[in-house]
Amino acid sequence: MFANFAASPGDPILSLQQTYAEDPRSDKVNLSIGIYHDEAGRVPQLKSVKRAQARLRSIDAPCVYQPMAGAANYRQAVQTLLFGAGHTKVTAGHVATIQTVGGSGALKVGSDLLRRHFPDAEVWISNPTWDNHAAIFEGSGFPVKRYTYFDSQTQGVDFEAMSACLRTLRRGSIVLFHPCCHNPTGADLTNAQWDRIISIVTSRGLLPFLDIAYQGFGSGVEEDCYAIRAMADADVSFLVSSSFSKTFSLYGERCGALSIVCASADEAARALSQSELAVRRNYSSPPTHGGQLVATVLLDAELKALWIREVDAMRERIAEMRRQLHDAMRVVQPGGNFRYLLKQRGMFAYTGLSADQVRALRTNSGIYLVDSGRLCIAGLNTGNIQRVAVALAAMTLQ
Ligand code: LMR
Repeated sequence: MFANFAASPGDPILSLQQTYAEDPRSDKVNLSIGIYHDEAGRVPQLKSVKRAQARLRSIDAPCVYQPMAGAANYRQAVQTLLFGAGHTKVTAGHVATIQTVGGSGALKVGSDLLRRHFPDAEVWISNPTWDNHAAIFEGSGFPVKRYTYFDSQTQGVDFEAMSACLRTLRRGSIVLFHPCCHNPTGADLTNAQWDRIISIVTSRGLLPFLDIAYQGFGSGVEEDCYAIRAMADADVSFLVSSSFSKTFSLYGERCGALSIVCASADEAARALSQSELAVRRNYSSPPTHGGQLVATVLLDAELKALWIREVDAMRERIAEMRRQLHDAMRVVQPGGNFRYLLKQRGMFAYTGLSADQVRALRTNSGIYLVDSGRLCIAGLNTGNIQRVAVALAAMTLQ
């Protein structure tokens, strides 16, 4: 019956976790998947989340189905976090937000919804981007194309080429952007560049889809939302997929959200009902527990302040690891230019290593990067950084 099933080549990020787990070397280092590890190499349990957990445990409630859109308190907390307290688009009811199964669930629901209502649109994603972006939009049936983004010479954004490309897109094209901590390159737009993107989007009639999974890992929880808030201020209609996996260290709980910013409250009510339909067709309703942990933290002033301090600490540790890796690589290879490590932001550094070099690093040193050359800075600690610096600098010399 299933003889025509071809074996899948596997996911470029998730498949590596299995290979890493099976690697018997005791000094192996996992810098592939985007998971934040602390200085001791552990995935942290945030204090704010533990306190929320203790509060929830004391609530004795049956576990019933959630509504298709998820929990009302969670949806409200998401809106405040993304748009800022009291944003007029939110208070006017122009934003439809639903709880989703992680950020991937938000992308999937959003992409199914858009495909149904804009069947002739093209989807444009940055070159490069997170591998699953293409997979999700193609899975919904969209043709997926790539706009120029990264310049391997400067190891930053090629903004002029990016804007020139966006200016050529057909009206109604859906364009996926990363508001902060671009995955995989760590190369972000400045606020002034976002303003220019907004004027292109407006004049060309494009439909932005902003995917934010690292809010707070770039400059700060509020600062990292510049693009989202500036688009809302400019009355652009757009979508936002967001995730709490990394920022709450709640990977397995799959806490995400899809927000649709509309032109009116009536439009938002219709967008909400269509999102609910898309959820029903996919997984019916989101799970309860993780979302309630997040909502409990975000809706309590004291727990929220504690959580922000914990996010700040994660961001600062990542920045410190960037500095230490840069300095250690400069010692190994004094002439080398590793400034990209300091310039790029968020969990990832884009090393410029080829897939062959990445595989050699894995085979010879047990150091795991993604084949694209993406390195997860948040997997470094003072115990492994020296070994990584030596192996990486030697590889860069080749
Ligand atoms: C990553 O980019 O490594 C993470 O977002 C995990 C994933 O699902 O790919």
